[in-house]
Order: sequence, then structure tokens, then C-alpha cells
Amino acid sequence: MGLPIYDESNERSARQMPATGTPHEQERALVAKNLAGVRRRIGVHSGKGGVGKTFLSANLACALAAAGKRVGLLDADVDCPNVARFFNIRDIALTGTEEGRIHPLEYRGMRIVSTHFLTDDPKLPMIVRGPIKHKVLAELLSQVEWGELDVLITDLPPGTADVPMSSMLIGALDGIIVVTTPQKESLMDARKSALMARDLDVPVLGVVENMAGDAFGSGAGASLAQELGVPLLASIPLMREIRELSEQGQAALVERDELRSLASRIGAAAMGEESIDVRRRSFWQRLMDR
Ligand SMILES: Nc1ncnc2c1ncn2[C@@H]1O[C@H](COP(=O)(O)OP(=O)(O)OP(=O)(O)O)[C@@H](O)[C@H]1O
Ligand SMILES: [Mg+2]
Repeated sequence: MGLPIYDESNERSARQMPATGTPHEQERALVAKNLAGVRRRIGVHSGKGGVGKTFLSANLACALAAAGKRVGLLDADVDCPNVARFFNIRDIALTGTEEGRIHPLEYRGMRIVSTHFLTDDPKLPMIVRGPIKHKVLAELLSQVEWGELDVLITDLPPGTADVPMSSMLIGALDGIIVVTTPQKESLMDARKSALMARDLDVPVLGVVENMAGDAFGSGAGASLAQELGVPLLASIPLMREIRELSEQGQAALVERDELRSLASRIGAAAMGEESIDVRRRSFWQRLMDR
């Protein structure tokens, strides 16, 4: 498979496991220890695929970095990772320590980790069963040198099994942001995401409706938010420019003046703060200074 972080002959994780507790408790303890320097841990999720989870995760990470936060971005879509594409990052392999720990990629003021950077050839499919995906996620949470961060955003794959479930069980999440598009089937699967989180004691911080407008309609986000008793954080329009900017590796929610207030609202919810200021000019200026 060529994924250096998971190798059955490698007993590193087993050796580091605390001696007591169930396997989940042991993993949780390792993750908590590794993420001790991370102030907030936020998941972006929906039961439905293709609704814009990775778009939102990448844009939220950029917006928070633009607001001066120290941001980590974990691509938890283990077998079909897309975060690298949203930043147009190619041909980068992560480096590791002698003990087998992983250094995140430092990119535009963020620390990014994705299996895209850990496979021999990211164009080839990773054909694995759920338990292996769980192992990979556990490694990414417990073996990456995340360091001191204000927030770690986790871009979750769709569904209510495997990685989203593992992330909610061992990822020490402070909350998830649920993404839905306006269509009924998306609403149904986004609701499952929220109910799953609540079943696993992970707070739902709010709902983001994505791709709203003439083509798909609007209102599903507001109705789901009302049903759950959580805020509707944003209704993001379906826009050609959003797709185009995403393809160019740019964060539309930071780049476009009229969308920046949406990023501020979602960012504030992620941070548990009243408001955040997505200062684009100083953000890019800071990056130019690097
Ligand atoms: N508001 C929008 N307007 C236009 N295009 C959008 C918008 N939101 C997302 N997209 C585009 O839709 C596509 C799907 O988005 P994305 O990959 O983020 O979905 P996802 O939920 O992460 O999918 P998956 O379930 O496969 O992980 C991407 O090409 C993205 O650029
Ligand atoms: Mg995705």
C-alpha cells in the first residue's frame, strides 16, 4: 500500500499504549496527550458526500489563519483525501522524526496533514477496510507534531461509520460544524451527522448551508438548525467563482469581500468566540513577509 504511517509490522503505537483501559480509552489517552497544545478541536461533517465539507474546512482554516489564529488542518478523508487539491499543493511528502513522528506541512500559516502527502503515489487508490482507516486516523491524531495551536480543523469524510465515528470517539472534538446543501437527501444525511455527534457526546456548534441559490434552492440549513436548536452559521451561495477560486487553490471565503462576513461568523463559532476579524490584507502581507 505504501502508506508509511501504517505498517502492521511496526509496533510503535502498541508500545506507546498506556497499560490500562479499553483500546478506545487507550487511544483517547494518547490523542489527548498529543493534542494537549491544541486549544480547540473542530470537525466539519455531513453524512452526505459532495456537499462542500473540504471546501468549508479549507476556507475556514484560511479564514482563521487570516484572523491571526494558529491553525492546523487535518484531512481525515483517509482514502480519498482532497485537502491538497483545495490548496493546489502537489508533490510534497511530509518529513518525520527518527521516532516515527510526523511533521505537518507548514503552508500559508497553517499546519496541514493529509494522507495525500504520505502515500507513494496519491493518484493510486488506497484499497483498505475500515479498521485500517481507523488506525491511520489514530496515527494522524497521536503521531503528528501538531504543537501549539489555537484550533485544529478536521475535514471528515461522509457517512456515519468508520472515520467520522472514530474521530468523534477518540478525536477529543470540542464540536462539529454540520454542512448541508439545500436538497432533501442532503438534509436527511446532515441530520444523521448531527444526531450521531450528539449520541457520541460531541456538541453540534451550528449548521452551514452550502450551494444555496436558484439551482438547488435554499432553506434546508435554517430548518435543520431550528430543528437541532443550534445556529445557522451561514448560507453560502452556489457560485461559479467559488468553484474557480477553489480550483486555483484560493479560499473564496477569504478572497471575496461579500463572503468574508460568512467566514467570520463560522470562524467565531469554531473558536467559541463572539467574533473574529478575517483581515485579508494583513494576512497576505504576513505571508509575503515569511
Ligand atoms: N458554494 C459553492 N459554489 C460552487 N462550488 C462549490 C461550492 N461549494 C463547494 N463547491 C465545489 O463542489 C465540489 C465538492 O466540494 P467538496 O469536495 O468540498 O465536497 P465534500 O463534501 O468534501 O465531498 P466528499 O464527501 O467527497 O468529501 C468541489 O469541486 C468544490 O469546489
Ligand atoms: Mg471532502
